[in-house]
Amino acid sequence: MPDARTGEVWILGATGRIGAAVAARLASREVPIALVGRDRDRLDKARAKLGQGDRVKVVVAGTAEKIAEQIAQQRPTVVVNTIGEYAETALRLARACMPGGHYLDLAADPTATSRLLDLHEEAAAAGSTLVTGAGFGVLATEAVVVALCAGRPAPSHVRVDALASVAIEAGVMGAAFAASIIDVLTTGGLRYEDGRLARTRLGADAQHLTLPDGQKVKSAGAPSGELIAARRASGAPNVTATSALVPTGAAVRAILPLAGKLLSIPALRRFAVRQLAGLRLKAASRPRRHSWGHAVITWPDGTSREGWLRADDGMDYTAGAAAEIAARLARGEGKPGAYTPAAALGPDLAAAAGGTFILP
Ligand SMILES: NC(=O)c1ccc[n+]([C@@H]2O[C@H](COP(=O)([O-])OP(=O)(O)OC[C@H]3O[C@@H](n4cnc5c(N)ncnc54)[C@H](OP(=O)(O)O)[C@@H]3O)[C@@H](O)[C@H]2O)c1
Repeated sequence: MPDARTGEVWILGATGRIGAAVAARLASREVPIALVGRDRDRLDKARAKLGQGDRVKVVVAGTAEKIAEQIAQQRPTVVVNTIGEYAETALRLARACMPGGHYLDLAADPTATSRLLDLHEEAAAAGSTLVTGAGFGVLATEAVVVALCAGRPAPSHVRVDALASVAIEAGVMGAAFAASIIDVLTTGGLRYEDGRLARTRLGADAQHLTLPDGQKVKSAGAPSGELIAARRASGAPNVTATSALVPTGAAVRAILPLAGKLLSIPALRRFAVRQLAGLRLKAASRPRRHSWGHAVITWPDGTSREGWLRADDGMDYTAGAAAEIAARLARGEGKPGAYTPAAALGPDLAAAAGGTFILP
């Protein structure tokens, strides 16, 4: 390909929780990185924490448009996008990497995931690999589905459960995470029925699960990138996805649909994201020993298999996954096109990112 790339991995949102953790992991592996953000002082502080001085580049760019311009001009090899609002901004940023550059993001909602996957033909023609859902939820569930379905015909039913256990650091929630939460409420429940996306009640399909380590967890239906990834990985016509992050109490579940409708009003959405982003969180240790990805697969003849992926803290796993994907893409190991993580790089990626499979 005639277009030379710098070999750098750019981390968008490098002052955030996940961005900073991805930067630290890549820097410790001696991958050349650049920290990209909208505030020079905060970027300089983030660089100082890495302890590598001027060897780590800083790029100040305040909006997705400005970041896209810088990517097109400076031509990094890989861009890691952690700035949130993926449904609105990811396509512009991914396209700025083409031709020849690679891109990954941490989108977790079905709209953003589908939009990026729709760039498949464009990315394949441009020799670029685009990966969406490069975090715990999608990878930990998709990898189990791929492992359970390998060498078998398409199943009839799949259920995936993303059971993250996450420690909370004291501080404000931040706009990227706040926007993801509001997006879940406004999208409402979704599942695949007979091969089509169908609306369902947010919080449907409630599960009471006993984990392989004996702990218990509740989860409920949420619109997620996990749903899209599980459908593509299995080919099953009927797919549901639940998450341990959705409240399972009857009273809260009863008001979720109304909250979702109200928050679809743009002014209310902006207000809610601002309020939530500024919410001060108290430090708390993670509620369960492990985070788990879980899949239950049923074939048309009635046979069924279930499998698990065990990880530690869900946020740490997300940072490990994004760093591992970025490192592999920087080495040119991705195939051209747009994919979810295990589809791009194989299910062993989930283990390389810090997970352990428990399969039948
Ligand atoms: N897929 C998964 O399983 C998974 C798991 C965990 C997290 N996530 C997602 O990962 C993302 C990052 O989470 P986080 O906890 O690290 O969030 P965070 O701490 O709020 O960090 C977000 C970063 O993005 C920057 N940013 C936000 N809006 C921006 C904009 N409009 N333009 C430029 N920069 C912007 C922030 O910069 P400032 O410092 O300037 O504010 C900050 O550096 C979120 O989207 C979250 O939902 C996904």
